[in-house]
Amino acid sequence: MRRLDAPEARRQLDALAAVLHDCVAGGASVGYVEPFSLGDAREAFEAFVADAEAGRRVLLAAFADRELVGTAQLVLATPPNGRHRAEVARVLVHRSARRRGVAARLMEAVEREARAEGRTLLVLDAVTGGDAERLYARLGWSRVGVIPGYALFPDGRLCDTTYFWKALGR
Ligand SMILES: CC(C)(COP(=O)(O)OP(=O)(O)OC[C@H]1O[C@@H](n2cnc3c(N)ncnc32)[C@H](O)[C@@H]1OP(=O)(O)O)[C@@H](O)C(=O)NCCC(=O)NCCS
Repeated sequence: MRRLDAPEARRQLDALAAVLHDCVAGGASVGYVEPFSLGDAREAFEAFVADAEAGRRVLLAAFADRELVGTAQLVLATPPNGRHRAEVARVLVHRSARRRGVAARLMEAVEREARAEGRTLLVLDAVTGGDAERLYARLGWSRVGVIPGYALFPDGRLCDTTYFWKALGR
């Protein structure tokens, strides 16, 4: 698990896009609806890398046998009165690498990077009743509540969203 600096993220663009594309193809509600091509996924990550270059976002990646199998992001772009918090976004593990603890370890790395950035409060949202909701609850995140019909699944169906927060101890 490690933070990608901008040059490495650029080198890994295809692999990052492949993970995002696989997750959306698998039905994950992570911001996109079908049709969603590999090119669309690459375009999305190009924008994330540009954000990372500007210091607005931290990109992390999980490697297994040197292959990139997962990724997560920390969004640092907060208003001045929220400079102590960050949002965790796009925690994605390729379907071929799931249920081995990759996401749990990615989240540990996310917390480490958040602390390094001076962020002591994290927020995120997840599909209600999905794998990610279980993951965050297991890792000690607190549930705020559910917003019914907040987002869409890739096939266009509405899905409920659960908001979470976690305060980072020193
Ligand atoms: C949610 C997601 C990131 C989880 O990734 P993951 O790497 O499979 O997560 P983990 O392996 O840490 O945990 C998943 C499950 O495997 C289990 N597990 C972990 N290590 C294991 C091991 N060695 N052997 C058996 N089971 C294991 C965990 O206990 C957990 O079980 P549960 O689902 O019954 O609670 C992944 O499913 C994903 O990418 N989904 C699509 C995208 C998405 O929805 N992202 C969230 C956006 S907020």
